[in-house]
Amino acid sequence: MRSKVTVVGAGNVGATLGQRIAERDYADVVLVDVIEDMPQGKALDLLEAGPVLGYDSLVTGVSSKRDGYGATANSDIVVITSGIARKPGMSRDDLIRTNQAIVTEVTQEIMKASPNTIIICVTNPLDAMVQLAYKVSGLPKQRVIGMAGVLDTARFRTFIAQELNVSVRDVQAFVLGGHGDTMVPLARLSSVAGVPLPALIPADRLEQIVQRTRDGGAEIVNLLKTGSAFYAPSASVLQMVDSILLDKKMIMPCSTYLEGEYGINGLFVGVPVKLGAGGVEEIIQLDLTEDERAQLQKSADSVQELVGVMGI
Ligand code: NAI
Ligand code: 2OP
Repeated sequence: MRSKVTVVGAGNVGATLGQRIAERDYADVVLVDVIEDMPQGKALDLLEAGPVLGYDSLVTGVSSKRDGYGATANSDIVVITSGIARKPGMSRDDLIRTNQAIVTEVTQEIMKASPNTIIICVTNPLDAMVQLAYKVSGLPKQRVIGMAGVLDTARFRTFIAQELNVSVRDVQAFVLGGHGDTMVPLARLSSVAGVPLPALIPADRLEQIVQRTRDGGAEIVNLLKTGSAFYAPSASVLQMVDSILLDKKMIMPCSTYLEGEYGINGLFVGVPVKLGAGGVEEIIQLDLTEDERAQLQKSADSVQELVGVMGI
């Protein structure tokens, strides 16, 4: 039987993700949105691309208020992208109140239809929203995951590859911590074809690249003016979906529930994990320096603050 992936929120990230999954030709896709007819329109358009591109994925659109979540039943993965996106001058944290209500409602509906699913949360502020989805869903911690680290790392890798004029494929990097201004790009543990980054890029230039990575989301928002990034975010979710549905056991930074790892307890924060058929199958513990550990703790503190604002 074909796998099934539901994407809640058929906006920029959700619809682009729906396209990317359909093109992989390994799962059927259900696009859900609160807006009437729009998800059906996008789903039909994607379905009609199948004969041209050669995929048989069935893509279905659902308007949640009118149709309910019946069509999403027994999804292997549900990706939550529903919510409002950042506008210029708006921080991820400004989004919290509106998106708290949306993610709560959506998670309740998801669980009624797919009680054993794996949830990948994308909605911002990411680490707080994935913590909310975990609490509301009651799923085991391995089955609720936040997407941010893959995106932040992709940005870091892009800038490093541009700086050194090398293929992005040769750049290995990790960005840990919450998806916000306090994220922790790990230059010391990043490398190009095995050569550590600090040996390749002078410290002051490396710091500029690290800062550009931290500001990566805002850089796109300021250019787009009417929304936030969606091509790289949807590609990042696709990599997570690949690793889970194909049980590839890839290691990538994801927001995951920590219970003592990295000295952090009871909180979703971005760290390297192994993703497979069971969701988060292992949390990889990197040997951090005191300074890196302090940066990670500071980032966790800012996630904790947002979780506190939500009162969960
Ligand atoms: P968008 O505005 O294009 O799409 C959001 C969609 O959610 C809209 O179509 C809207 O109608 C729908 N929606 C709102 N309430 C809903 C509900 N109750 N049920 C179903 N659908 C509902 O926004 P975009 O660009 O797709 O971003 C979505 C979210 O993802 C935002 O919160 C954004 O900040 C976040 N994001 C997070 C990233 C990350 O790295 N974690 C990267 C990019 C975006
Ligand atoms: C990003 O980093 C908006 O969080 C989103 O692009």
